[in-house]
Amino acid sequence: MNPIKNLRNNVLNILSPHKCQIRATFITKALIVVSPYLGRAAIRRVTAYGHSWTWRNTPDAKNIVVLGGSFAGTELVRRLTETLPTGYKVGHELRAFIPYDFIAKGSPLGILRRIQDEAIAITNTQILLASGERIDYACLAIATGSTQQFPANISCNKRSEACRELQGAQQTIETSPKIAVVGGGAVGVQLASDIKDFFPTKDVTMVHSRDRLMNRFGSRLQDYVLTALRDELKIRVLLNERPRLPVGGNFAQSTCLTFYDGHKEEFDLVIGCTGQRSNSSLLKSCYPDAISKENSCILVRPTLQVFRATDPTKSLPIFAFGDVANHSGPRMGRAGWTQAGIVLENILSTIQGQAASLIYAVENGEHGSDFLIPSRDGKLDLEAENAWKEYGVDFKQFWK
Ligand SMILES: Cc1cc2nc3c(=O)[nH]c(=O)nc-3n(C[C@H](O)[C@H](O)[C@H](O)COP(=O)(O)OP(=O)(O)OC[C@H]3O[C@@H](n4cnc5c(N)ncnc54)[C@H](O)[C@@H]3O)c2cc1C
Ligand SMILES: NC(=O)c1ccc[n+]([C@@H]2O[C@H](COP(=O)([O-])OP(=O)(O)OC[C@H]3O[C@@H](n4cnc5c(N)ncnc54)[C@H](OP(=O)(O)O)[C@@H]3O)[C@@H](O)[C@H]2O)c1
Repeated sequence: MNPIKNLRNNVLNILSPHKCQIRATFITKALIVVSPYLGRAAIRRVTAYGHSWTWRNTPDAKNIVVLGGSFAGTELVRRLTETLPTGYKVGHELRAFIPYDFIAKGSPLGILRRIQDEAIAITNTQILLASGERIDYACLAIATGSTQQFPANISCNKRSEACRELQGAQQTIETSPKIAVVGGGAVGVQLASDIKDFFPTKDVTMVHSRDRLMNRFGSRLQDYVLTALRDELKIRVLLNERPRLPVGGNFAQSTCLTFYDGHKEEFDLVIGCTGQRSNSSLLKSCYPDAISKENSCILVRPTLQVFRATDPTKSLPIFAFGDVANHSGPRMGRAGWTQAGIVLENILSTIQGQAASLIYAVENGEHGSDFLIPSRDGKLDLEAENAWKEYGVDFKQFWK
């Protein structure tokens, strides 16, 4: 059994040791979740087809603006272009590796305007873009996610430069015999195990501040990950340690770390995987009190509608979801995707003059309610081709 392939799937799927029983439970639960979804998806397709014939592009159409073009934002855009009534259209700021040209495939012409730019501030009626353009909004959905440090995130927003940035990181890892990964959340665990998977002879140390790796997840996964890293992959795991990373040196070569007992150790490469920061700053000028002081996420009600701490009863025509929002769900792609459906319904209510009432119920947030599904079919590229298909682009045709 290859522990790495399993580990990859652990982090992706969340697993368990009691295979048969858990798998049966998982399949039952999955069917309960998936069956209504398939029904809804079929209804959605028929309704979208009808919508494409009835929506009219009127000159005075009001904007529903979606900020952020990733898991959460693109799902909402797709749903809005299939649903919005005449008199409203969608504006969308984004950047991505996968081309988004076909995101609104089949939707009526003129319902979506796609803009590649950065939103730098909002007012109570407008969005200000870095290019200087101002866009009016009737309703705003913020899905600007979070920023990770390199290499979990990259700084370039052009495909060729971004690929070069990633290749540079791979080369540095390849030529560094002794590596420390600091931060044992999902990103650190994934990175440390990937390094050892590709380069089994490297000396890899995982340093984590808590007494359990992946402390945001359930205890079964935490136990599994620790055993896989330490006993099977032979990664040195140092828990309850919080060495200071060099300033600005999240991916630092020839770096010394100092541990609690005072001892210092030199590494050829130190990679910080110490967490993410919410991209909520565009609210700072107009609604600074809508940003959480604890974690800088945007404050939202269970309806994912933004509220101000100083005036919590007032309803703003603004929603926030995905990683940027202070909801109670996990910071994961599928959570943002689910939340897009909630935001869609609540936007439709808002533009009809009704209160947003649909509530986001956390699917899998309870401690220990996770599933462990051992699997050996994890593909090296995480089946990226399927993601392209999801966005209506043929990967092979694109690269021809
Ligand atoms: C290494 C790694 C692996 C992961 N693996 C998984 C996994 O296997 N499964 C899973 O479910 N989750 C995974 N996650 C978590 C998942 O990636 C996030 O939960 C998800 O990306 C959040 O989606 P989002 O749309 O809210 O925000 P993001 O994905 O952060 O996207 C936000 C988008 O908004 C844009 N943006 C930001 N600010 C502005 C602005 N001011 N103006 C315009 N655009 C802006 C950004 O460029 C970006 O495109 C992983 C995370 C990391 C770091
Ligand atoms: N496959 C997946 O589903 C997947 C994959 C990757 C990421 N994600 C999601 O993406 C989000 C971000 O993940 P992440 O791993 O980047 O962040 P994270 O979950 O916040 O983990 C980072 C960890 O690093 C620790 N840390 C911070 N500074 C440290 C230091 N100097 N020394 C040692 N440890 C330190 C933090 O501990 P303290 O809290 O003590 O500071 C924290 O536990 C998470 O919600 C995660 O679930 C999901």
